[in-house]
Amino acid sequence: MSGLFITLEGIDGAGKSSHIDWLEQQFVQQGRQVVRTREPGGTPVAEQLRQLVLNEDMSDLSELLLVFAARDDHLKKVILPSLAAGKVVLCDRFTDSTIAYQGYGRGVSLNVIQQFKDLIQKGLEPDITFVFDIDPMIANERMAASRTHKDRFEQEALDFFNKVRHGFIKQSQTSARYCLIDSSQSMDVIRQQLWQKVVSL
Ligand code: TYD
Repeated sequence: MSGLFITLEGIDGAGKSSHIDWLEQQFVQQGRQVVRTREPGGTPVAEQLRQLVLNEDMSDLSELLLVFAARDDHLKKVILPSLAAGKVVLCDRFTDSTIAYQGYGRGVSLNVIQQFKDLIQKGLEPDITFVFDIDPMIANERMAASRTHKDRFEQEALDFFNKVRHGFIKQSQTSARYCLIDSSQSMDVIRQQLWQKVVSL
C-alpha cells in the first residue's frame, strides 16, 4: 500500500484538532497505519524549536529559518520514512502555514519561502491539504473560551489573522490538492467533505 500525506491548515481557532481525531479513526478502521504529527514539531529537535518559535521574541527571518529547520528534521526522521513504509501521515500544519503566517502574515518574501521549500522538500507535496476557513473574529471568540495561555501567534491582532486567512485562501486556489472547508458548517457536513476528498484520490 502506498503512503498518504495529508496536511491540515487554517488560522488559529479554525478547529482542526477534532477533525484530525476523526480522520485518524477513519483510517484506522480501514486497517491503515496512521502517524499523527504536527509542525513545528514532530521530533525531539523540532519540538524544541517549536518552543522557541511559539514563545520567544525573534525577528521574522529567524522565525522562518526555525520553522524550516524544524521541518527538515521532521521530514527526514518521521514523514519520509513513514510514507516509504506505506503509512498515512496526518500532519497538523505544514508549509502552507509558513506561506500564510510568515509570508502573508509577517510579510516575508514568498519567493524566499519558495526557495527554502524547494531546498527542503525537493518537490514533495502533500497528497491532500485541508484548509479550514473561518472568520478570524469567530476564531478569536472560540480561542478566548478555550485557551488560558496564548502563544506569540495567538496574541496577534485581528488584522494579522485576516492577512493569514487571505494567504490560506489564495494558496488553496493554486492546486487541486487543496480542499477548502468552511469551518462554520456542522461537524457532519465537514466530515462528509473530508472523506469525499480522501476517496477522490
Ligand atoms: P498550532 O499547531 O495551531 O498549535 P496549538 O493549536 O497548540 O496552538 O500552533 C502552531 C502555531 O505556529 C500557529 O499559530 C501557526 C504557527 N506556524 C507558523 O507560523 N509557521 C509554520 O510554518 C507553522 C507550521 C506554524
